[in-house]
Order: sequence, then C-alpha cells, then structure tokens
Amino acid sequence: MQNFKLNKTDLLGAQDWTFPTFTAYGPGRFKEIGNFCKNFNIQNVLIVTDSGSINLPFISDLQNLLLDSKIKSNIYSNISPNPRDDEIESGCKKFRDGSHDGIIAIGGGSAMDGGKAISLTVNSGIPLWDFEFLDKVPRDLKGKNPFPKLITIPTTSGTGAETENTAMVTDTKKGMKFCLWHPDARPCLALVDPELTLKLPANLTAWTGVDAMIHAIEGYSVPMFHPLCDGSALESLNLISKSLKLAVNEPDNLVARGGMIIGSYLGGIAFLKGLGLVHAISHMVGAEYNTHHGLTNAIILPTVMEYNLPGLEEKVQRMSEAMQFDDHSVNGFKENLNKMLDEVNIPRGLNEIGVPEDSYKRIAKKSMLDQAYGQNPKKATLEEVEQLTLKSIKKAR
Ligand SMILES: NC(=O)c1ccc[n+]([C@@H]2O[C@H](COP(=O)([O-])OP(=O)(O)OC[C@H]3O[C@@H](n4cnc5c(N)ncnc54)[C@H](O)[C@@H]3O)[C@@H](O)[C@H]2O)c1
Ligand SMILES: [Fe+2]
Repeated sequence: MQNFKLNKTDLLGAQDWTFPTFTAYGPGRFKEIGNFCKNFNIQNVLIVTDSGSINLPFISDLQNLLLDSKIKSNIYSNISPNPRDDEIESGCKKFRDGSHDGIIAIGGGSAMDGGKAISLTVNSGIPLWDFEFLDKVPRDLKGKNPFPKLITIPTTSGTGAETENTAMVTDTKKGMKFCLWHPDARPCLALVDPELTLKLPANLTAWTGVDAMIHAIEGYSVPMFHPLCDGSALESLNLISKSLKLAVNEPDNLVARGGMIIGSYLGGIAFLKGLGLVHAISHMVGAEYNTHHGLTNAIILPTVMEYNLPGLEEKVQRMSEAMQFDDHSVNGFKENLNKMLDEVNIPRGLNEIGVPEDSYKRIAKKSMLDQAYGQNPKKATLEEVEQLTLKSIKKAR
C-alpha cells in the first residue's frame, strides 16, 4: 500500500466552512477575532478559559486583539480539568455581573465545555442539570436571547468540542460526569487556528491527540447508519495517523499541527453519533480522580478494543485503510493501535496515574449509567464492565 503524506497546501491555507457550524480554519486566523466579534455584534465578551490556561500567551493575545478592535472583555478562568457544576454557576454570576453579551470559550475541551455550559444556563432560565436529557428537550426558554453568542477557539487538538453544543460537566453531588446540550445552542463560530497549538507540550499533544483518534474509532463503531459522521470519522483517522507522531516529535511542525487540529475537529463530528465503553469508563474515572480525559481514554483503549472489535471486521478494515496500516485484520488493527500508544508514551495501566485497583466495581457500576455505555457496539454486562475496568487499571496492554 502506498503511503501518502499530509497535504501542505490545504493545511497551511485559510478555509471557511459553513457546516456543522460556521468555521474559520487556518494558521494565523486568530488575529481576525475582533472582526468576527463585530460581525456577530458582540461588544462585551466574557472570555472563558481553564485555570491552567490563564497565564498562557493566547489569553493575553486575545485580550489585546479585542482591545485593538474596541471590544470590552473580562476573563473567567475558574474551570478545572473536569468542569464542575459549581464552577459553571460562578461563571454565570460573572457573566451577569459584567452585563456581557457574548462568550469566547478558549482552551482545551475543559475551557470550551465550561463556556458552553455557561451559555446554556445563564440566560435561558433553565437549571443546568435539565440539559442532561435523553428524550424531552427543555423548552421553556426565557428571554429574547436564551443562549448568548458563543465563539469556540480550541488550543488543544483533542476534543472537537468546538463544533457542537454538548458540554461534559461533573455533578459534584453525585461524583459523576454528565453530558449537557440543547439542539438550539450552537457556537456561532469555531475559530480553528493550528498556530495556537504550537506550544502544547509533547505529553498533552499525545493525550489530546489520542482522545481525538478514539472519538473517531468509537463514533465509527456505534451501530447506526450515519454516513456524515462515518465519513468524518474515516477522514479524521486518516489525518491523525499521518500527524500524531509528527506533532509529538516536532512541536513546531505547523502542517502536523494542522492535521491534528482538523483531525480532532472531524472526530468531534464523528462522535455526534455516539461513543462507547472507553468514554463511559473514562468519564467516571475522571469524575472521581480528576485524571486527564484524553490520557485516561488512551490507557483504557486497548482493553475495550480487545472486547469490541471481534465482529466489526468490515469497520476495522475501513479504519485500517484510512490509517494506512498494512494489516487490516482485527488483530493487526489492535497491534497497530498499541504501537501508536507506545510511540507517544501512553502508560499501560490506570494505576500509573493514581487510580486504585479497589475502585473498579464502583467505577464499573457508574459507567453503566453513562450515555456512552448504551452506544457501545456490544451490550456489556456488569461483570464484563468490571473486568474491563479492572484490566484497564492493572495492565491495559
Ligand atoms: N464537549 C465535548 O464534545 C467533549 C469531547 C471530549 C472531551 N470533552 C471534555 O474536554 C476535556 C478535556 O479537554 P482537553 O483534552 O482539551 O484538555 P484540557 O482542556 O483539560 O486541557 C489540558 C491542559 O492543557 C492546557 N492547555 C490547553 N491549551 C494549551 C496550549 N495551547 N499550550 C499549552 N497548554 C495548553 C490547559 O491549560 C490544561 O491544563 C474533558 O473535560 C472532557 O470531558 C468534551
Ligand atoms: Fe473524549
């Protein structure tokens, strides 16, 4: 099989896409933020980011760019790696106290989810947890502008959270993480500039990058006919397989950073179809031990692949082709994925990141309440989820 490389002309150019949400892609496009705010009639921005990003250069750059365009701004940065309901509540207070008319959610998935969760509840009059629904969409929206304008700007290449309206938030009372959303709430703009990821350290590049790859794999494996999501999944895998190792080893390689950030964006579209057991288990580990989402997923991946892939031969072949692997069998695919995890230094068990063995029964039980559990291609019993969780803690590969 011939091995193709990343396309420099595409990845270094500027592109505007109109779906799934208006998207401006390209190196250097961050500088257009002032104009975008004016176009969307945003005059007084609340910048939402996470506590780890507040001192990173993109925040002061953003403030200066807004100032240059005479747009008022204030910052809310009390968002943790697994955003919590109480943090969303104080963000809402800051938005109201500052009479803001728009939100720029900038950072990794945590910051963007924080901004999205604030935008869901701040004006709508609907309590935060009512947005965790399966069938009945919360309807009684208050005011003319129930969801303030929201611009998402990713600075990691992992979650694809910039494209859509879901936010993962930890319920501090239940110690569980849930997915919040509303069909009418969507970012008015995703500003996707790979230059913002050039300073992302090698470990975070790997952790977030593998998360993106897992969105594509789990999304594609969901047993549902959804050609738009499936097309995105395969193109995401194609870009990520060409870019991940390169971006980890050559942080300044803007072509690889471009491949990763679009791969991640497409992964975010792929999993609109659903996810699977990797995420179901990981969400509960993250909620209890505040571990990094992408790293947790990356460690769990081999265990769940071992369980899920037999029976998915056609899908495995299509994913292997997209990733330019030579061996398209189930075993070949698993081995190639494990090799990728080794190459980017993913630990082999959750015990290496502080998850104790005796937590496995509790984590497994909670995982079965996660939406992603029901989307997994195989219906796992409690005993099976317990075994997968235990194996992921002790030795996943
Ligand atoms: N809504 C969704 O669709 C969706 C999908 C997947 C994951 N998530 C959520 O996203 C979160 C994980 O997001 P993440 O993996 O992007 O990690 P993250 O947002 O937690 O960020 C990890 C760390 O990277 C730092 N960082 C961010 N950009 C940087 C940069 N350019 N340079 C240096 N450091 C940088 C942050 O400050 C933070 O300390 C989890 O809370 C997860 O639940 C949401
Ligand atoms: Fe994820």
